[in-house]
Parts: sequence; structure tokens; C-alpha cells
Amino acid sequence: MNLLTTTLCLCLALVACHHELVSEPMDIAKEELDRCKGLEMDAVVVDEDGVPVFFKGDRLFKGFHGKSELSNGPVDAALSMNFNESDNACTFFFLDHMVFRYIQEKLVAGYPKNISEAFAGIPDHLDAAMQCPKPVCEKNTVIFFKGDKIYYYDVETTAVEVKEFPAMPNCTSALLFNGQSYCFFGTQFVEFDPKTGAIDGRWPKEARDYFMRCPVYGEGSVHLDRERCSHVRLDAITAEDANTIYVFRGHHYVSMDKFEGTYGSGTIESVFKEVHSELDAAFAFQGQFYMMKGNHVFAYISGEPPALVEGYPKTVKEVLGLDGDIDAAFVCPGDKVAHIFQGQTVYEVNMMSSTLPREAVFDAPMPLFKKVDAAMCGGSGVDLVVGSHFYHFNSTKMMFLARSLPEQLRVSRVLLGCDH
Ligand SMILES: *[C@@H]1O[C@H](CO)[C@@H](O)[C@H](O)[C@H]1NC(C)=O
Ligand SMILES: *[C@@H]1O[C@H](CO)[C@@H](O)[C@H](O)[C@H]1NC(C)=O
Ligand SMILES: *[C@@H]1O[C@H](CO)[C@@H](O)[C@H](O)[C@H]1NC(C)=O
Ligand SMILES: *[C@@H]1O[C@H](CO)[C@@H](O)[C@H](O)[C@H]1NC(C)=O
Repeated sequence: MNLLTTTLCLCLALVACHHELVSEPMDIAKEELDRCKGLEMDAVVVDEDGVPVFFKGDRLFKGFHGKSELSNGPVDAALSMNFNESDNACTFFFLDHMVFRYIQEKLVAGYPKNISEAFAGIPDHLDAAMQCPKPVCEKNTVIFFKGDKIYYYDVETTAVEVKEFPAMPNCTSALLFNGQSYCFFGTQFVEFDPKTGAIDGRWPKEARDYFMRCPVYGEGSVHLDRERCSHVRLDAITAEDANTIYVFRGHHYVSMDKFEGTYGSGTIESVFKEVHSELDAAFAFQGQFYMMKGNHVFAYISGEPPALVEGYPKTVKEVLGLDGDIDAAFVCPGDKVAHIFQGQTVYEVNMMSSTLPREAVFDAPMPLFKKVDAAMCGGSGVDLVVGSHFYHFNSTKMMFLARSLPEQLRVSRVLLGCDH
């Protein structure tokens, strides 16, 4: 399966076509767009890693944070299609009356075509498009959006059914992501049921809260729901003890009390002042939190509030015997060894040795994942977070022995208890 392998290449490829279509010269020096200021996106697709790519004007945004890249061509709508898993996934871009189809980086022969030719019964000047496979939709369908009209295109029979769902906003981009259907409009979005058009009362929500990693903006309020339900990947996670788990993302944390089943959230800065935000990894060891950020380790003594240990921050080299930029780390309860993830390697560091610098004493490959975003070891084993999912192993040993992925669990629903 190979979607938008290189969105950039796709878009570079689009240049050629757009040069023919749009005669106005491109202004390379155009101002950088900031998605955290609030943008209405033109289109969105997911790439081959399942990460959303948003399009706005002549720019695109890959993933949940980071700057825009030049896309060199505006689009009305975009669609990634992979109904047939044995086929290469393809991506369609729609502009005015034209549709461009790409497989990997290549424009498919015969494209661009008129939309009316490639998708008979679907109008020009679309607003949005998304695929809707069985069983999310009753049939393998592409849903097109234009104004308040929604066109269901049956990919097997090519029949088109036009629907109007009064509850639905006019979508300017649409996405099937992690099995849920999302309609974006303005800077907001709703999750909708593509069979009925139903939206429940908790919507709409702000796209910046759930699909983008933005520092606190606007009123500066912190929403627990946002932190639990966001699709943006986590930076770090750690079990403070058998009962309490901390999850870190951007400027915010969520704390979970497993016995009480309660959650709290706030800015990292308000609790761990010196480390401030944007951690790489965290673990707890003997009543202290160790937080890694770039080349530095911040150690805090647990408490209300936690206090920075004297002499910290120190370098990662000194505390863990490794160069900086740690991906993830954990220490199992009662254990003396820290497991540190860097790329596909796991290092072990004996935290009992109190003389610094410490040395990483052992390393082992972790072939199952290209990169682990966050890791935690609690009473029941190890959890590794990768993107919007996590994987449970009954012990560190089982993690090292595993040769196939265990069940994929959703961070938002299973780990953070998001109810939608
Ligand atoms: C998927 O595509 C392959 C090759 O084009 C074809 O042989 C197969 O029948 C298709 N499967 C489905 C379920 O459409
Ligand atoms: C495509 O659409 C344009 C504009 O509507 C029309 O002039 C042209 O003939 C169409 N081409 C084909 C191959 O249908
Ligand atoms: C939605 O689209 C319809 C046209 O299809 C238009 O009349 C209506 O004003 C639009 N609503 C909004 C809120 O833009
Ligand atoms: C992990 O532990 C659970 C609960 O004890 C057990 O049901 C499961 O089979 C174990 N998984 C593996 C892979 O050993």
C-alpha cells in the first residue's frame, strides 16, 4: 500500500499541470502560513503512515505540527483511496473541473481528466472528498461535498446518490481517520456518521485542539477533553507509581488516577516549571521524575509541587551516557534499569550507579517500530506509544522477544479514556 509517499513530489508533479492550468506566476516568497492562527483548510488526506496532510492555498502541512511546505498548486479537494489492499493506493486531487490521479509519485496515464469523465455524476468545483469503505459506509463509497449537497459515489457500480443532511455543516475538507469520519469547516470540525449524517451535541470542536499541535492560543483555557481526545501524538508518558500516570504532549499534561478513574490536566509549565514544554521522554525512578528534552535531563522530586533536584538540568550524556534526543524511556516499578529508546535501538542504563557520568551498559534492537514516541512500564507490563496507537507487552522480556505486533490499541480511547 502506498499513498502519498511523498506528498511533496506529488505536489511538485502538480506544478507542471498547474502551470498549464493557472497562468498566474507562483510567488515563491509568499508569506508563511501559521496553522495555529486558525486556517480553513482546502483539503486533507492521510499519507502512507496514516498521518493527515492538510492543504491550504499553495502550501501543505504534514502531520500535526511543523511549518508549512510549498505545495505549488491549490486544490479544491483531495482523496486518498485504498479500497483494494492489493492495489497501490492512489491519491486524487480536484481542481475546478479537473481531477489528477497519482500512484506513488506518478501522475497516472490519461490524467488529468474532467471530473465528469472520471466520476460521472459528480459536479465540478468540489469542496471536499473522502473515501468511505465498508463497513463505515454500507458500500465502498467515495463521498464528495459541495455546498450543502453530499454525493455518495458507489465505487463498484458508479451509481451516485445525492443527500442533504440538515445537521451537517458545508464541509471544506473531509477525512476518514482512525475509522472516524471528520468534516472540517472554517477552523472547526465535526465527527459525523456517514450513514445518517448524524452529529451529536458535543460538536463542533476546534481543529487546532485535536489535529494540530499549537501552544495555548486564544483564552488560554485548558480542556481536559481536548487533551484526552486529541489525535496529536504524545511526547512522553510515565507511571509515577502503581496508581498515577502522567502523559505529556506539547505544552500540556494529563494525569490519571487509575484507582479513582479520575483525570486532571494543565500546562506542563505550571507543574514542571523549568522543563516548560515539549518533552522528548520521561520516566520515574525512586520517587523522582526524569524528563528528557534535547540534550538535557531535568530531575524532579515528586511532591506538590515537584521540585527540581539541585544540580539539574544535566546533560543526557552525563545522566544516561547517551547523546541527546531520546525518543522514549521507562523504568519498571522496583527495577533499577532505565530502558532508553533511540530510533530502533533500546539502551539500558543502571540507575543505581550514583556516580556520573553513567554509561549505557547494553543495547538491543527494536525491529518492530521505526520510532517509539513514548513508553511506560507499570504493574502489568510495558506500553509503547507509536503515533495515535499503543502496544502492550506483559514484560520487558516479552517486548524484546516479540517478533510480531501485539494488538493495536487507540491512545485516545483506551489509554486516555476519551469517550468519542
Ligand atoms: C484488487 O485488485 C486486484 C488487481 O487489480 C484484483 O485482481 C482484485 O480482484 C481486486 N480485489 C477487489 C476486492 O476488488
Ligand atoms: C472537459 O471539460 C471542458 C470544460 O468543461 C470541455 O471543454 C472539454 O471538452 C472536456 N473534455 C472532455 C474530454 O470531456
Ligand atoms: C452551504 O451551501 C449552500 C449552497 O449549497 C449555501 O446556500 C449556504 O449558504 C451554505 N452555508 C454556509 C453556512 O456557508
Ligand atoms: C499477557 O497477560 C495476560 C493477562 O495475564 C494474558 O491473558 C495474555 O495471554 C498474556 N500475553 C502474552 C502474549 O503472554
